[in-house]
Amino acid sequence: MLDIETIRSEFPALGQNVNGKPLVYLDNAATTQMPVGVLEAVRNYKERFNGNPHRGSHYLSVKATMLLEEARTKVAKFINSPSTKEVVFTKNATEALNLVAYSYGLSSIQSGDEIVICISEHHSNLVPWQRVAGLKGATLRYLYLTEEYEIDLERAKQIINEKTAVLAIAVMSNALGTIYPIEKIVDYAHNQGAVVVIDGAQSVPHLKTDVQKLNADFFVFSGHKLFAPMGIGVLYGKESFLKDMPPFLMGGEMVEYVTEQETSFNELPHKFEAGTPNVEGAVGLGAAIDYLSEIGWEKITEHEKSLTKYALEKLSEVQYLKIIGSKNLEKRGPVISFTLEGCHPHDISTIVDMDGIALRAGHHCAQPLMNYLQLPSTSRVSFSLYNTKEEIDILVESLSKVRGWLGYES
Ligand SMILES: Cc1ncc(COP(=O)(O)O)c(C=O)c1O
Repeated sequence: MLDIETIRSEFPALGQNVNGKPLVYLDNAATTQMPVGVLEAVRNYKERFNGNPHRGSHYLSVKATMLLEEARTKVAKFINSPSTKEVVFTKNATEALNLVAYSYGLSSIQSGDEIVICISEHHSNLVPWQRVAGLKGATLRYLYLTEEYEIDLERAKQIINEKTAVLAIAVMSNALGTIYPIEKIVDYAHNQGAVVVIDGAQSVPHLKTDVQKLNADFFVFSGHKLFAPMGIGVLYGKESFLKDMPPFLMGGEMVEYVTEQETSFNELPHKFEAGTPNVEGAVGLGAAIDYLSEIGWEKITEHEKSLTKYALEKLSEVQYLKIIGSKNLEKRGPVISFTLEGCHPHDISTIVDMDGIALRAGHHCAQPLMNYLQLPSTSRVSFSLYNTKEEIDILVESLSKVRGWLGYES
């Protein structure tokens, strides 16, 4: 069992009052708070070792290089990448997806090819593929969902076929909380000859990641959803792809040799890391990985599952509330979307904010999904390892008052 009191005491942001009430932070799918270990690692780097890595031979530059590469090694181990060459630091998951779309997509996808994504993809794993499809004369096709908000596997087998050049799919939907049977789908796509891009932005904080077991050709995530600072993300790519892909951004650091008219490029992964990198972000991500590893996945999963179960039960008791997502605990993560009849999600969010509760309202960067579900938007709560059942009780009590605030009699 998690020692929840100790854990909460390690996150300074959780100790504050908001609107006169203790903060109940339930927007972890958007971004997570940082533990003192991460804050201290970043501060220590900035105070003592701030140098521009890979470019100097003085102490601070060498130290910054060591810390950056140490963080890369931690990431590689964390996601079970066979090599640090396959771990590229980016700004976030969005940039990593753009890197794959622009570099791999534009150089490999041909007119007439098909790109397949799921209807619940975050815009970050959708808009870049729309762009590639538009530029290359390819077709963007969608995997749709069943009434239980799961991928319709039978239909998926028709949509993923020998024309599929790329399948780009999230392990876990940020708008529904569904965890898709990703290994099965990846296997099927590979058998059809497709290259598979996996968006792990929502799954990485909650599920042990093994890029080799997933057999991901590319895998992306953001540090800030995993207790690290904003501005650091990761692209994992199989070396067999990365080595032949053209660079995405050009400039310093990604070059080997530059003449007036020609440039040869640096080795992996530096070929994809143009300009001064976010060393403090990488150091923070390394510290966040250490933090998670110390706690261990077993305890994290157990705690988050019990929160999700409790929240699904309690939210189901709120009158006029409808959960938009699977109720099957085995097929979902700790992200729960819902509607409250007659109430706009932005009103809900503003009203519960008065009770110190942070939840999310809107289309969750998944507008095609909202259109598919014929919903303008939803409210969303998302849990992390530091949330408690007491916080869910506070949420439920606050939600029970919302319709009254908006003038309904019950
Ligand atoms: C599933 C998914 N993919 C991609 C992203 C994009 O992450 P970022 O904004 O950190 O690039 C998000 C962010 O919410 C997400 O939930």
